[in-house]
Amino acid sequence: MKKLRLLSLFSGIGAPEMALKKAGIPFELVAYCEIDKFASRSYSLLHNVPESMNLGDITKIVPEELPDFDMVFHGSPCQSFSVAGRGEGGVKGSGTRSSLLWNTVEIVRAKKPKFVLWENVPNVLSEKHLPVFKEYLEELAKMGYESSFDTLNAKDYGVPQSRERIFCVSRLAD
Ligand SMILES: C[S@@+](CC[C@H](N)C(=O)[O-])C[C@H]1O[C@@H](n2cnc3c(N)ncnc32)[C@H](O)[C@@H]1O
Repeated sequence: MKKLRLLSLFSGIGAPEMALKKAGIPFELVAYCEIDKFASRSYSLLHNVPESMNLGDITKIVPEELPDFDMVFHGSPCQSFSVAGRGEGGVKGSGTRSSLLWNTVEIVRAKKPKFVLWENVPNVLSEKHLPVFKEYLEELAKMGYESSFDTLNAKDYGVPQSRERIFCVSRLAD
């Protein structure tokens, strides 16, 4: 099977990469992106890749200069959407941490990968934050992506913790 070329943004410890490994889907990481040095070190050790593959702060990335990739994962910061946060939201250009999802959208616009996977807190579906999520879906649709999303709970997948997350998969239509 041909290896999937993967770009990992807001990488953390790279849980989606673990999922690919568990699912037996061969992939090759083109780069990861993580601003926190401890998370970067953990990512590098867990996935056996050099820290030189870390692009660092997403706001400093020039999308056109990225190598080509087939899929991008972005579990963008959720604090401003979360019920536990101050609820500032993720409006484009607002400067909130959650608005960094729009940096991914610009990367997608420039590179047009086949698949985009976004993960976040279910509160993006609340009345307050839904307009941002709808705009995200619309921006991707204008670029030719078809999106589906669902809220999943970790406890239903063999993890001893009740933790809901929304997953949105977007596929560039043929
Ligand atoms: C919700 S976590 C993502 C968790 C990840 N999906 C995982 O599997 O561990 C968001 C991550 O984005 C990182 N981050 C926040 N601002 C960033 C920025 N400007 N550039 C790159 N990474 C950033 C945080 O340090 C944090 O690790």
